[in-house]
Amino acid sequence: MARKVIRVKDLTKEYDGTTAVKEISFQVKEGEIFSLVGPNGAGKTTTVEILECLREPTSGEATVLGHDISDEAEKIKEKIGVMPQDFNTFDRLTAEENIKLMGDLYGSNNVEEIMKKVGVDKFKNKKFADLSGGMKTKVGIGMTLISNADLLFLDEPTTGLDPHARRETWNLIKDLKRMGKTVFLTTHYMEEVESLSDRAAILIDGEIEVLDSIENLIDQHGGGIKVRVLEDGRAVEIIHDKADEVLEGEDGTLTGIFDSKKEARQALIKLFQLDSKVEVQDAGMDEVFIRLTGGKIDEGGELV
Ligand SMILES: Nc1ncnc2c1ncn2[C@@H]1O[C@H](COP(=O)(O)OP(=O)(O)OP(=O)(O)O)[C@@H](O)[C@H]1O
Ligand SMILES: [Mg+2]
Repeated sequence: MARKVIRVKDLTKEYDGTTAVKEISFQVKEGEIFSLVGPNGAGKTTTVEILECLREPTSGEATVLGHDISDEAEKIKEKIGVMPQDFNTFDRLTAEENIKLMGDLYGSNNVEEIMKKVGVDKFKNKKFADLSGGMKTKVGIGMTLISNADLLFLDEPTTGLDPHARRETWNLIKDLKRMGKTVFLTTHYMEEVESLSDRAAILIDGEIEVLDSIENLIDQHGGGIKVRVLEDGRAVEIIHDKADEVLEGEDGTLTGIFDSKKEARQALIKLFQLDSKVEVQDAGMDEVFIRLTGGKIDEGGELV
């Protein structure tokens, strides 16, 4: 069993008048990518910054790497890598100078190696102010690696990035996992949760709605497998006969939704035998979120 690097129990944070985080409990396993997912104002940054010992909880307990956040903050801060939300650093220094500065702070001399690892070496002489969003993120992740921390907190590392830069950042985060790091990630992008994380907790209004592996979340809350066929011939009969729900498309297609993977597989075998044109779509985290919360998070992070 993997070691638990974060343990949180009944954590609550109140700001005057608002409860930002309400009695949340969860654990993060060593080596995993754990995502806290939720819309703007859900309490993600509050949670992350309590674990980073930058804010104090109103009540509840937490340990990070075995140290209690209430009285071992210095030990925790030494051992973690942090990339804050809306990460920014010295605008007039170059990418390399920013990473070096952090290296000096931690007395580490692996700046070159880290720049290479995160791809900063290609633009190391550019001023931070002149970098694209994706490049800035690379510098930020590079800075979290300098201390040689095994546990990294990335608060919305891809918000505002274009799709290409977002994908590059995902690859970088996957590399971090391969390097053996544990990554605590916050995001409001369902696609990101799905393609990156091992486990995720959905946070709404300061409360955890659900927490599980991505596989289990999709399996249990995704609402089934969709099988789409052209609206003619025997294929239609099979869909009507076997699917739990049937949707007629305006484009002349018929979609059957199967709650059980087994049933879907059996129907597919029949459809393939008929040589029907079939399209299969497994549910994703988008559907999980809609089914659990009744809402959707838009590109800007708002719950709609
Ligand atoms: N320092 C503060 N003082 C008072 N209220 C705060 C403070 N920080 C956060 N809040 C409130 O607490 C709630 C949670 O905020 P938080 O920043 O943790 O959410 P978030 O999930 O990180 O949101 P976002 O996606 O916008 O970053 C919000 O209602 C916010 O307005
Ligand atoms: Mg935030």
